[in-house]
Amino acid sequence: MRIDIITVLPELLESPLGHSIIRRAQKKGLVEIYLHQLRDYTTDKHRTTDDYAFGPDAGMVLKVEPIFKVIEKLKGERTYDEVIYTSPDGEPYTQGLANQLSTMQNIILLCGHYKGVDHRVREHLVTREISIGDYVLSGGELAAAVIVDSVVRLVPGVLTDETSALTDSFQDGLLAPPVYTRPAEFNGWKVPEILISGNFKEIEKWQLEQSIERTRRLRPNLLGE
Ligand code: ADE
Repeated sequence: MRIDIITVLPELLESPLGHSIIRRAQKKGLVEIYLHQLRDYTTDKHRTTDDYAFGPDAGMVLKVEPIFKVIEKLKGERTYDEVIYTSPDGEPYTQGLANQLSTMQNIILLCGHYKGVDHRVREHLVTREISIGDYVLSGGELAAAVIVDSVVRLVPGVLTDETSALTDSFQDGLLAPPVYTRPAEFNGWKVPEILISGNFKEIEKWQLEQSIERTRRLRPNLLGE
């Protein structure tokens, strides 16, 4: 899978994309991630990527020309499954959408900034708009990092124990059950007896009950309640 990220702040993404699982996925050749500095696609002396919004409202807007230039260049080199714009008014991001994106070959992530992008970008260049939650970030970079992290871990071969992605919260529409490790007792706090029983059938039954109970209590909306 290849992910191209277009941003005015590539520095913000270097660290989250350069460590842990995402770094390993790139080293193993399972995922390629490229950061594109939008300023490199400007033509004026000041490398201007934004300008004042038309109309009475204050605020800067990312200009259409450099975005058009970088997207056209990338599209000339390969076919993209989606050109995604990160924005608080996009489609709500879910595990289901992460699963869908993880099956794609090539995607572009365009990070919004300031008041957003010239709307013609959204009308003519973007194929999908994603919000990571009902709150406003200073820019789309952190949203892009969230999307990349959640997608890359689902690409086959990225996680060492593949089943661990399947047992994540939300994969079956439920929150994950609680997990414990050694010691079985600490400070008088005990691990549930069932988990050290060695009876895997009973453990699975307990885990499902816990998942349902936690989902009903913490996120009843996931059960349609
Ligand atoms: N940019 C600013 N806020 C955002 C959000 N909540 N989701 C995606 N992109 C954003």
